[in-house]
Amino acid sequence: MKRDFSSLYNPSLRAQKKIITTEDGTQTLYSKEFDECYHGIKDGALKESLKKHVEPAYNLIKNRDSITILDICYGLGFNTLATLYFYKVESPNSKLHIISPELDESLVQSLKDFNYPKEFDDFKDIIKQLSKNFKYEDKSIKIDILIGDARDEVKKIDRKIDIIYQDAFSPKKNPALWTKEWFKDLKNISNSSVVLTTYSVATSIRLALYENGFNIYMAPQLDIRSGTIASLSSLPLERVDMELKKERNPKAIALQDIDIN
Ligand SMILES: C[S@@+](CC[C@H](N)C(=O)[O-])C[C@H]1O[C@@H](n2cnc3c(N)ncnc32)[C@H](O)[C@@H]1O
Repeated sequence: MKRDFSSLYNPSLRAQKKIITTEDGTQTLYSKEFDECYHGIKDGALKESLKKHVEPAYNLIKNRDSITILDICYGLGFNTLATLYFYKVESPNSKLHIISPELDESLVQSLKDFNYPKEFDDFKDIIKQLSKNFKYEDKSIKIDILIGDARDEVKKIDRKIDIIYQDAFSPKKNPALWTKEWFKDLKNISNSSVVLTTYSVATSIRLALYENGFNIYMAPQLDIRSGTIASLSSLPLERVDMELKKERNPKAIALQDIDIN
């Protein structure tokens, strides 16, 4: 039976947001609905996107002509825009297809007026088109924002994903996007060499990935707080021994759909 997650969200609070300036000087928002900021204030919005998601994934999936990225979820679009910024310099000939679910349609529509960092100046037209049409395409970049619940939207994706930026709100505030069942759906649309980046280091989340066959690694310390990298293949990174974690903490369990309401 299909599980209905709508009771986890509160659309009546969705419009209530506050601008916050983060420590790298870039701006993010605070969401009343999730009672959380879209980015870590200490790391900074742009720095977090680049150092936690874009650079570590790029370093593991280099030299591809064409890359498909799943950006969970679009939010203010920092991860998508930081990807365009980074690849423009490091790999200008790569073809990028970014697919990004997002529940909050009005947020995306409002982003044409968001005060982005100067690093995104070249993408003003892309931001405008995404705000209006939720998609953009030119000869090397394709972006699709899928407006709706990511739990439903990812099931409709019919291409294999190379990189996943797992950047939902925290597991406490946004649990439906952190369970074993969620990661199973992500695995189903992933290439065997997929690289998943996330800020979460929680054992219940690492187990939810591990029990789907993902290898778990410490994220490289790129001048930012720690995180996790996961892949269905072996990576040249420090591996987290999940069997040892289970042995040392027999009560630790993977977060599952049944645990959330
Ligand atoms: C932490 S923010 C993402 C920040 C974003 N990566 C950025 O760089 O700006 C989490 C986003 O997930 C969205 N979200 C939460 N639950 C969702 C769901 N079930 N389906 C789609 N989007 C969801 C929220 O509306 C919010 O925009």
